[in-house]
This record gives sequence, C-alpha cells and structure tokens, in this order.
Amino acid sequence: MSDRAEFLVDLSALSKNVSKLKEDCAVEVLAVVKADAYGHGLVRVASAALKGGASWLGVALLEEALTLRENGVEAPILAWLVSPGSDFELAISRNIDLGVSSIKGLREISSAAKKLEKNARVHIEIDTGMTRGGFLDEWNNLLSEDFANLEVVGVFSHFARADEPGEKQNVDQVQKFKYMVSELEKIGINPPIKHLANSAATLKDKDSYFTMVRVGIAMYGLTPDVTHMGTSKELGLRPVGQLRAKLHLVKDVPKDFPVGYGASAYTSTDTKLGVVAMGYADGIPRIAQGAGIFVNGMKAPIIGRVSMDQFVVDLGAHSKAQSGDWVIVFGDGSHGEYTADDWGRASSSINYEIVPRIGPRVPRIYEPHVY
Ligand SMILES: Cc1ncc(COP(=O)(O)O)c(C=O)c1O
Repeated sequence: MSDRAEFLVDLSALSKNVSKLKEDCAVEVLAVVKADAYGHGLVRVASAALKGGASWLGVALLEEALTLRENGVEAPILAWLVSPGSDFELAISRNIDLGVSSIKGLREISSAAKKLEKNARVHIEIDTGMTRGGFLDEWNNLLSEDFANLEVVGVFSHFARADEPGEKQNVDQVQKFKYMVSELEKIGINPPIKHLANSAATLKDKDSYFTMVRVGIAMYGLTPDVTHMGTSKELGLRPVGQLRAKLHLVKDVPKDFPVGYGASAYTSTDTKLGVVAMGYADGIPRIAQGAGIFVNGMKAPIIGRVSMDQFVVDLGAHSKAQSGDWVIVFGDGSHGEYTADDWGRASSSINYEIVPRIGPRVPRIYEPHVY
C-alpha cells in the first residue's frame, strides 16, 4: 500500500484474458511483456500469462529477457530488438531466442554460437510492409547466407494496420509473409513457428494466425483501437490495471481564479478544487486535458496544466471529497471512471502510451480492483 499513488494489477483478469484469446484463436500464444509488461510489472505478468495458457514470452530487449531468466522463468522467450554488438553469447547461454533482421546481426549471432559450440535459436524477422524491423533490402543476401550454428526456430513479421480491420494492407502483408516463407522453404529453411498477428489481428483476422499469435495490449484488457475495433468490453476483455491516487488537498476556490503553471485555465464558478498527488513524473501526460479522476461516484476533470508531481481537478462546488481520499485516475470504466482510452484521447495519444508511462515511483499492487 502506498500513501500517494498505486497501480492495482489484477493478475487473474490477465490470465483470463490470455485464456480467452487462446481459446478463440486456437494456436500458440506468445505473451508480449516488453516495457515492464506495458507498465504492469514484467515478472508477475509473465507468470500470470503463462498460467493463462501462453506458451511463449516476447520482449523487445535482451535485458528484459535476462530479467525473466534471473527470476526463474523457464518458458521460451523471444527478444526481437537485440542489435548488432549485443552480448549474444550471454543471450545464447541463457537459452533466449533472438529475432534477427540484418545480415550483420545474423553473422554476429552465428559466430557467438560457434564460440560456445552451440546452435543459437533464431527467428527471422521479415519486413512485409511495416517498413520498420525485418529483412527487406538484404532479403536476397539472406537467402544465400551460411546458417552455421543457427537453428531457425521461427519466422515472423509485424502488421502496420491490423487495428484497422478490412484495410487492404493487412491482406497484402499476409500474402507477402506467405511468399517470403515459401522462399525460405526453397533454400531448406522451414521454421516450425510462424507468427505475424498482434492483438488486433488476433481479435479480428483469422487469416493471420499461422502457428502462433503475439498478444500484447489485449492481454492487458485494453482495446487496440477504440474507434475501429470497439471498447475492451465489446471485445470481451477485462482491463487489468486500475490507477489510483490520493487527494493531497481539497480547497474552496472562487470563480475566475487562475489554476496552475501558465494560468492556462481559470475557475468558471465558485468551486472545490482537488490536488491529486501524481504528475508527469509518474506518467500523467503534461498535456492531458479532458480526462481526470473519479471520486464519490463522480468524474472530476483536470483543470490547468499537469505538474511534475501533482495535478488539479475541478471537483464541483458540492463535492464531498476530502483530502486523503483515494480517487481513481483510470480503471475499466464500469463504475463511470475514466479509462486508459480516455487518457489517451485526452493527451492526443492512445492507451498503449498511457500504461507503460506509469513511473517507477508508483508501486504495482497485485490485487483485484477496489472501488
Ligand atoms: C513485434 C511485436 N509483436 C507484437 C507486439 C504486440 O502488439 P499489441 O500490443 O498490439 O498486441 C508488439 C508491440 O508493439 C511488437 O512490437
């Protein structure tokens, strides 16, 4: 329990989301736990995801994969953003699967494995249209590479627009994926694991499943895109995290008083303002306007600019809220509180950016939500 702010994470909701997603897609699930499990806590989330039926874990960075191993996680782990110059020997010796997306990277992994007299497990990342990670210009070179000391376990790619179901680019990426996989087969590389789908594709595009899906945002109970895909509830997902904070202070303020840095807002009536003990150092976007908190069954919107450690909300003249009360910053919305989607919208962003920004000063508490 914190005296100021906390992020309540309901791990059983997370396991249930994973079970549901796995049941619906009926292929292997890789749980994406990069960025401290989207802010929810790497190690605890990883075990809850495995409990829910995920058979793989996916991270961006080698250090994230190593942390999982150091904490006794034995499940297969894929790290896909391990750049040339990384400690590949350490990765291989910890049995971490490596995404490879350049000839330079592939050769470094191969020579690290040779030194260890082992085979490194790799997943070839192919660029099917996102034009970010994966082989594109070096594709033909790859097809004539020496794969010494490399066990090609997987081949994968990533969607650019899966959160817009029906977009032609999604169909094009699936076709390109199949074509590039067939090219690998022609040179005798037929990886048992083929994966392309992220959450949005897992929810809406059966043609993209192949042998495994990589599920991030949906596992945390959040929609990949509220506009094109509907809310979490409509997708049958349970939001896993509830962010709450304390009211540090409640004060009566007359009409026409300037509030906060830059006096960017003024009170429009005589009212009560609440000072919430969280700020942009804790991940509350400085530009957020239009979201706020939920207390005593009522929403209270932000007024003025968010500061480093605190922000101010307009509680309304008749509010019964008092300093020391806990308020909900975001939750699943079922009681009328703001959601991570609302906070995304309020800061010209998306829920994806809101949750991993929750800062290190905010303890993660693993309990069902309390209202
Ligand atoms: C390569 C890769 N796969 C899967 C995911 C998970 O995406 P989502 O959270 O949309 O499921 C990500 C996250 O950005 C990613 O970078």
